[in-house]
Amino acid sequence: MKKQLNGVPQHVAIIMDGNGRWARRRAMPRFMGHRQGVKALKTAVRYASDHGISALTVYAFSTENWTRPREEVDFLMDLMYKTFVQEIEELNKEGVRIRQVGDRTSLTPEIRRVWTQAEEITAANKGLTLNIAFNYGGRQELVNVMRQLADRVSQGDLSIDEITEEEVASLLYTHPTPDPDLIIRTGGEMRLSNFLLWQAAYAEFYVTDVLWPDFGNDDFERALQSYAARERRFGQVLAKEQ
Ligand code: IPE
Ligand code: IPE
Ligand code: MG
Repeated sequence: MKKQLNGVPQHVAIIMDGNGRWARRRAMPRFMGHRQGVKALKTAVRYASDHGISALTVYAFSTENWTRPREEVDFLMDLMYKTFVQEIEELNKEGVRIRQVGDRTSLTPEIRRVWTQAEEITAANKGLTLNIAFNYGGRQELVNVMRQLADRVSQGDLSIDEITEEEVASLLYTHPTPDPDLIIRTGGEMRLSNFLLWQAAYAEFYVTDVLWPDFGNDDFERALQSYAARERRFGQVLAKEQ
């Protein structure tokens, strides 16, 4: 067995990919894969809660996903809405704190309302922080940060020298959640797809071919084991190699 170098990651982020392929392989329409994906998400939230992970950020809808066929986009919006209405009580009971990360302005008032409610109801909870990246794009997030900084500079409230990494980080949608320690991607693609571009700087990456609707506790455990065996160097030379 490999030496354990890291403990449990504090913050795990997941690119939940492969719903469409899962459905197609069963000769079902893509939306059935999304529906099954919600079940996998519930399992993953429980697993993270039970294993001492402090924050889980899941990629549910990207700024690029609007380019999908209208029916699929509508289905995903509706699924998000209904899932929240259904699950909020249970999540609240389990002490989960919910936050949306992403641009809210282009979502319907109905969906914005459900996010606000979910965040307010669960704000004081002390358990797992569940960040749902919905209408999220890493580039859009950074443009949003740049606009806020430019605005403050032009108002004279901020000097150029005060633009630091900490200042940028404090304006990200994911703030105050620290950077992810581990990013898991299901569905086998070796790419970030515009997820957490800033925050991913030193995240460990774990890709599995398992499609998201099939991702269960064993798969989560395998990802954590892989993480535990990694040597994180953050650009340094470790003492034993000096
Ligand atoms: C991920 O599954 C869910 C979303 C992007 C909303 P996909 O729908 O991308 O599934 P594949 O990649 O086509 O199999
Ligand atoms: C990434 O998956 C976005 C989500 C999981 C929400 P995509 O299926 O949209 O990514 P690409 O198109 O394969 O890069
Ligand atoms: Mg995909």
